[in-house]
Amino acid sequence: MKYLILFVVLIIVLISCTKKVAKDPNLAYSDFALLDSINMGSFTYYKNDPATFLPGTIGPHGPYKLRFNKTGFNALTDNGKLPVGKSMPNGSFIVKDIYDGNNEITLYAFMYKYSGSWLWGEIKPNKEVLYSVYRNPSTCINCHSQTGNRDLVTTFNFH
Ligand code: HEC
Repeated sequence: MKYLILFVVLIIVLISCTKKVAKDPNLAYSDFALLDSINMGSFTYYKNDPATFLPGTIGPHGPYKLRFNKTGFNALTDNGKLPVGKSMPNGSFIVKDIYDGNNEITLYAFMYKYSGSWLWGEIKPNKEVLYSVYRNPSTCINCHSQTGNRDLVTTFNFH
């Protein structure tokens, strides 16, 4: 009987702990959760062009393709770009696929709009986190705050 009570208490504790974790909204925006969305979400390439590599000679990453989830893509009403002075809506997801010379993706750099500001991250396809969304993103923001006034999305300035 004693063990049965202990067992029941243990189950209750386990269930309530799991619930607490599931309720934490930040978990949906962890590095790995966002990598899952990168892999499984539905995206559209910049200017509807999945073929062309952008040179990436101005930024720190190298040749890339750029894709947007539906929420982000729908905001690009100025010839495929975000209109000057506008902000991307919450839930916008921008993924920069960075390629090596052999047509393989070596790194994802991404921006996810959450609660009015961007989460910034870099993660490899093998799940190695190079720049966690939990880190202070000032390095990213400082460089992305160049003229253009399109919500820190620099590609719109150059391509
Ligand atoms: C030295 C300047 C610089 C730094 C630092 C930098 N970026 Fe960028 N980033 C750029 C430029 C310029 C582009 C677009 C053109 C290119 O890549 O050549 C770009 C493009 C991007 C894009 C595609 C969307 C866009 O804005 O065009 C993402 C996503 C991105 N960077 C994420 C990051 C993250 C995350 C960090 C920090 C870990 C970061 N960047 C740091 C300069 C920078």
